[in-house]
Amino acid sequence: MVYKIRVSLDNNSYDIHIYNKLSSNISISTIFSKKNNSVIITNDTIKNIILKKKYIYINNIIRNVPFFIIKDGECYKNLQVVEDIIHFLLNKSYGRDVTLIALGGGVIGDITGFVASIYQRGVNFIQIPTTLLAQVDASIGGKTGVNHKLGKNMIGSFWQPKGVFIDINFLSTLPRKHILSGMAEIIKYAIIFDKEFFVWLEKNLLKVLNLQEEELLFCIKKCCELKTRVIENDEKENDVRVFLNLGHSFAHAIETYTGYGKWLHGYAVSAGIIMSAYLSVQLNLLNKYDFFRIVKIFYNAGLPIKGPKQMLPDDYILLMLRDKKVLNRTMRLVIPISIGRVQLVSSVKESILLNSIQQCQKQIYKF
Ligand code: NAD
Ligand code: GLY
Repeated sequence: MVYKIRVSLDNNSYDIHIYNKLSSNISISTIFSKKNNSVIITNDTIKNIILKKKYIYINNIIRNVPFFIIKDGECYKNLQVVEDIIHFLLNKSYGRDVTLIALGGGVIGDITGFVASIYQRGVNFIQIPTTLLAQVDASIGGKTGVNHKLGKNMIGSFWQPKGVFIDINFLSTLPRKHILSGMAEIIKYAIIFDKEFFVWLEKNLLKVLNLQEEELLFCIKKCCELKTRVIENDEKENDVRVFLNLGHSFAHAIETYTGYGKWLHGYAVSAGIIMSAYLSVQLNLLNKYDFFRIVKIFYNAGLPIKGPKQMLPDDYILLMLRDKKVLNRTMRLVIPISIGRVQLVSSVKESILLNSIQQCQKQIYKF
């Protein structure tokens, strides 16, 4: 292990372990030697990669642990699959002492955590994130849940894992588009909290995307530390945790509108952050120089800088009114006010919002 980060939440505290290319085999074995009564939740893609291809060490370790395999895809992050997992656990007579192990990306982590939070009123779970997005964001902080056809992540709970084990070796088989998707969340952290990190990313973007170990580890550690600080101050999103949703009101609308899985989460976040940044320019809160730096970093990474062509401004508004941040039917949006600082705004005039979305769609930025 190269880093250990403590998430201090009284009785719900846990460690995030980060492993480099050399240390991993020792680490994962420690989880399984202690947990006899475990069930791994994963999908076929991941199981096949692990069992048939690269990760001989984990293959040997997990061979004797029961698996429950779900289908691969965001569209399977739903209540039917929750029911299927619960049926499996009950059918095999697993009790409250079972530990669920989420082995996979954010989809597996979110659904496993949700099942862990409701199975027999709550059982332990462990996160072994295998995508960049899950390693820098989804596996940390205990947000669990599934999608509803009317809205993304609309059913869920806060349920902290007992530990997070991040092994960068997994990323070597991850398709490039999913590396990019994770990169969008990394850039998100920099825009919200840390200008210095943003400048570092501007210089080191390609090294991270090419999975160069030193830069990759730096990035993962940085994001885990930033997120941990937020979670420790506001576990249940009553305050600062809301900032982590930068661009997400737009992004979730895109994901729901297009059908889950058509637009990767990070791709939608990229387009969503740009829309929120442009709105901020329109509200005279963000200067246009910072706006263009934000557009440029996503563009340089190879991420989308506008939403799906077919989606109209009204389509966004309709879906954004179902966002979890809506209070008293009033939309609340997180927008950047400079690089490294964000603000929560409410009561934005619908005409300004519609116009901002429209300008972003056409990429005609009028200042
Ligand atoms: P994902 O879980 O769908 O994984 C992406 C793809 O990569 C899948 O096809 C998966 O099978 C494959 N895969 C996973 N690991 C692999 C590996 N090592 N090698 C090859 N292929 C591999 O997507 P994701 O981007 O990890 O997660 C997106 C989900 O995370 C969304 O549902 C989003 O809402 C959620 N999310 C949750 C939080 C949170 O705080 N809970 C935060 C951000 C995002
Ligand atoms: N990804 C947003 C959060 O964990 O709060």
